[in-house]
Amino acid sequence: MAETVLYGECLYPDDRVERRIFGDGVEVIFADAATLADIPEEMAARATGLMIFRQFVRAEDLARFPRLKAIVRMGVGYDRIDRKAAAARGILVCNVPDYGTAEVADHAIALMLALRRGVILHHDLQRTSPPAPWTYREHPLIRRLERLRLGLVGLGRIGTAVALRARAFGMRVIAYDPYQPNGVERALGIERARTLQDLLAESDTLSLHTPLTPETRGMIGAAELARLPEGALVINTARGPVLDIEALYEALASGHVAGAGLDVLPVEPPPEPPPRLLTAYRERAPWLEGRLIITPHSAFHTPEAWEDIRVKSAETMRAALLGPRPQNVIPPEAL
Ligand code: NAI
Repeated sequence: MAETVLYGECLYPDDRVERRIFGDGVEVIFADAATLADIPEEMAARATGLMIFRQFVRAEDLARFPRLKAIVRMGVGYDRIDRKAAAARGILVCNVPDYGTAEVADHAIALMLALRRGVILHHDLQRTSPPAPWTYREHPLIRRLERLRLGLVGLGRIGTAVALRARAFGMRVIAYDPYQPNGVERALGIERARTLQDLLAESDTLSLHTPLTPETRGMIGAAELARLPEGALVINTARGPVLDIEALYEALASGHVAGAGLDVLPVEPPPEPPPRLLTAYRERAPWLEGRLIITPHSAFHTPEAWEDIRVKSAETMRAALLGPRPQNVIPPEAL
């Protein structure tokens, strides 16, 4: 067959959707491999299309795929793919940008609400032994949402969906995204910060929605956290390395940052020994009570999103290999 699509990981229990979308003219094969180096030689030699979910694609991996024409990342982020090496071989790189926009936006809002409404604080207190008294606690995080400003770094699909949700809560929303054209803020009824520094000074809650790029790696460090208003909340559902977790530990320990909600960590799964913040969280350090929520990169997760990933990634690969026009192509120079 002219085209062979190789799934590097087995994410679904059968291949019915894939066979339907690719049709009879395309061979579809599956390898249940932890890394691309673990994919059997004869499979790698046949593949013209490669589907990846968690795997990294490095230049040396590509050398094992002599016929490869297209790589589809079954998700939004494409930071694990060496795009320059792929471009040098003329291999198209595509992503699936639109399977979990609502889920991730909902998750960012859920983290914010759980912290700002004292949900986890009171939930945890009611199951201590003995339980805390049947009454509310004062806490710096607990504030009227309508009085608070939400600062968004990145106003793409997810950032926009977060802005719309936050507006419904009556929040003042401000966004920093130098790559969006003038006027998107007007269309959304929000404000625009021209610099990150301006945004930080105005963000009672800061929520990150950028891709991981050389520019955004480490974008929020000690100096940026110090610029947030006293008692700020930091939410990261984007990529762990955008936020310096050691700096966040210090800012939480000093009390300047009142709380954080993290769906992503700098290294996933977290290494041993883990970052100090994770240790304090796991040990339920009293100073972090009600102030930190961690979820395991699960913001996108719903059965509906998984079905969308499955269908849309196969359609994206079909368009890349068979046309009529490739979709969701990541330009090699994209940050
Ligand atoms: P998108 O591509 O629609 O939006 C990203 C926005 O970030 C763009 O508007 C872009 O201009 C902006 N941006 C890029 N560099 C910037 C910078 N230096 N400063 C400010 N803004 C900058 O992507 P989408 O769909 O909104 O996703 C955002 C990120 O969320 C993804 O790249 C991915 O890393 C993360 N994500 C996390 C998931 C999870 O389960 N936690 C699931 C899906 C995505």
